[in-house]
Amino acid sequence: MSEPQPVVGELTSAAVIVVATIEPGGEDAVREALADFGDLEDSVGFGSPLAELSCVTAFGSDAWDRLFGGPKPPELHPFVPLDGPRHAAPATPGDLLLHVRSENQGLCFELAHRLLDRLGPAVTVVDETHGFRYYDRRDLLGFVDGTANPHGRGALDAALIGPEDPFAGGSYVIVQKYLHDLAAWNAVSVSEQEHVIGRSKLENIEMSDEAKPGDSHVAVNTVIGEDGEEVDIMRFNMPFGELKSGEFGTYFMAYAASAATTEQMLRAMFLGTADAPRGDRILDFSTALTGGLFFAPPVEFLDDPPQPGVSAAELLPITADAVPVASPSDGSLRIGSLKASMS
Ligand code: HEM
Repeated sequence: MSEPQPVVGELTSAAVIVVATIEPGGEDAVREALADFGDLEDSVGFGSPLAELSCVTAFGSDAWDRLFGGPKPPELHPFVPLDGPRHAAPATPGDLLLHVRSENQGLCFELAHRLLDRLGPAVTVVDETHGFRYYDRRDLLGFVDGTANPHGRGALDAALIGPEDPFAGGSYVIVQKYLHDLAAWNAVSVSEQEHVIGRSKLENIEMSDEAKPGDSHVAVNTVIGEDGEEVDIMRFNMPFGELKSGEFGTYFMAYAASAATTEQMLRAMFLGTADAPRGDRILDFSTALTGGLFFAPPVEFLDDPPQPGVSAAELLPITADAVPVASPSDGSLRIGSLKASMS
């Protein structure tokens, strides 16, 4: 399989998440800058190996069209906004996502700074979040956040596109910045909060199916696949806040082998389900301010991205296992395997 970006890893104690738009005409500068990202990461992180500095770079749908030639990840489209009976999930601008993680907040800041410096005026930052670890991996609602993430092989399967796919090693990322109404949250009892989430607050133990309300966050987000097994995503939520403005939030971010899984969860949360007709109760205390869908291609793609205007057929020797996947009428180049472009 192509080498994935460092999508799957431990939940770090710090992260800087940057969403930027690409200026008209800035496409060449962005493509050239991408090739230097790995070196910049080494420059900032090599001297502090225990800090586990990493960065994932991902692209929005329009940006993909503007930056790269060749086929496009089939599930990469603009984030679908949702307008439910009580809560809305807006789609907000974003061409480029930088997810910088480390045990050391200073290194996150430095690397994000260097990357943006390298991108220069080609991009405009539209959102910047500095996330931190809060107690024992709790969100600002006070609940441990991330426990049900899969581990090991399961984490790779949940987050990364499998080897038989043209986009093997890539990952779909959905991000949303939420603000919590802490006054309203703290006005309800701990027992009530536990029924909103579906786990106990102190011990972090999931409620039994009988005890767990159908509109609790955990119940709403349990997706069962055709094989009867739960379908997982890899979540890397980070708390953030600003005391001056009284902002207390969770930056939701999830990597998935299929964007449809996370999108199904979002529809359940915002539009509701049979067991939760008014949607996920966590939304009574949390408002989504942003929403974006991005694709994080494998490392080789970033090092040598296909140029726009050059057909994939001209760029690549087509491999024997390349098979037509779609008709040209949909804009596809009929190349079944991207492997050649990534090698
Ligand atoms: C579980 C918090 C948004 C998907 C959880 C848990 C907490 C939590 C505390 C239980 C512990 C755990 O397993 O992590 C939050 C907060 C959010 C948020 C504070 C934003 C306000 C979302 C969104 C999605 C999502 C937008 C999906 C689109 C999940 C899933 C689980 C989960 C899949 C695991 C369910 C299971 O146990 O099988 N979340 N979450 N969360 N959340 Fe969220």
